[in-house]
Amino acid sequence: MAASDDSFETMPSSSMADHTHLAPTPVWAPSCVQIVTPRTRLHPVSSRHVTPTYVSWLNDPEVSRFLESRFVEQTLGSVTDFVSTMAQDQDVLFLAIERADDGQHIGNIKVGPVNWRHSTAEVGILLGDKSTWGLGYASEVITAVSTYALDRASLVKLTAGAYAANVGSVKAFERAGYEIEGRRIAQVVTTGGRDDVVLLGRVRGGRER
Ligand SMILES: CC(C)(COP(=O)(O)OP(=O)(O)OC[C@H]1O[C@@H](n2cnc3c(N)ncnc32)[C@H](O)[C@@H]1OP(=O)(O)O)[C@@H](O)C(=O)NCCC(=O)NCCS
Repeated sequence: MAASDDSFETMPSSSMADHTHLAPTPVWAPSCVQIVTPRTRLHPVSSRHVTPTYVSWLNDPEVSRFLESRFVEQTLGSVTDFVSTMAQDQDVLFLAIERADDGQHIGNIKVGPVNWRHSTAEVGILLGDKSTWGLGYASEVITAVSTYALDRASLVKLTAGAYAANVGSVKAFERAGYEIEGRRIAQVVTTGGRDDVVLLGRVRGGRER
């Protein structure tokens, strides 16, 4: 499910026109990234994505069950502020996941903020449209974004963390080439008591460092 090289674009492409014979230079340009996967199109999250539907995802206890955002009631204003902050942060890649066949915004994926000293970043994903769950979208999108960040941008290691009870999230990251690196015992509080956090990571080139 890995995206091909042709699936990544950073604009403006016209400025690259005279250099197409050169090997691609690693580039980190979060506001310009467009990624295509077999069933989705990924674009930077912008104000056009801030809708009552997006806000309702964050306030849906089923969607936010394993998210830190659940501790605060979200509003159009708070989401607008968050999106604006992310858009201005050049160390964060924050992409809207749009379904290819109908253009519907179904969730978001975030890489960052990048630690440039170590070339690492944390990855997080939210599929707010519950009708998309269990269909492989998270695996597909995490794979493509991770391949972009490691192979086309300049990152070397990506990390993620998921509540242990969030089996779908752990499996989606594993499907996208992440390995379980550890477990923080009783790290978080949930409605069912405390839970562990599973720590995952993917290194550029796999285990060959
Ligand atoms: C968790 C989430 C990202 C999973 O996305 P998804 O698109 O449903 O995941 P996928 O379809 O790619 O599934 C990956 C694997 O997990 C399995 N899976 C998915 N949801 C599952 C669940 N609730 N219980 C058990 N297994 C599940 C799939 O069957 C698949 O298994 P396989 O690799 O053996 O085929 C999505 O449900 C979501 O965004 N939830 C709300 C926000 C959230 O929790 N984000 C993650 C925070 S770390």
